[in-house]
Amino acid sequence: MPFYSEKVMDHFANPRNVGEIKDADGVGEVGNPVCGDMMTFYIKVKDNVLDDVKFKTFGCGAAIAVSSMVAEMAKGKTLDEALAITNADVANELGGLPPNKMHCSNLGADALHKAVENYKSKMGISKNI
Ligand code: FES
Repeated sequence: MPFYSEKVMDHFANPRNVGEIKDADGVGEVGNPVCGDMMTFYIKVKDNVLDDVKFKTFGCGAAIAVSSMVAEMAKGKTLDEALAITNADVANELGGLPPNKMHCSNLGADALHKAVENYKSKMGISKNI
């Protein structure tokens, strides 16, 4: 029977970086086509580094754990390093997800990437990926 890893349970029960950054430098929002859940990421950027990362997730426990882990992984990273984080990396960091919950990990890195792209386009930095 598929159980959540301890890390998933921990990030679900004590999510890090929940909330909204009012004067965010970049915002990324994605919806999960499988279940309709929504995830929004907010970033603050300083000297090309993600100085702060927050999220709001209207979704299941796995999606909340994924958001929390993405925010933790992304903080302190450069823009390019943040763009290199994949959904699979996040699921791995969480110690895996049950097979029927893998789709929940698909929002995390996507929402973060959108926030970074949003910042880049505001700053006039062209995409180089
Ligand atoms: Fe919707 Fe998990 S069931 S993100």
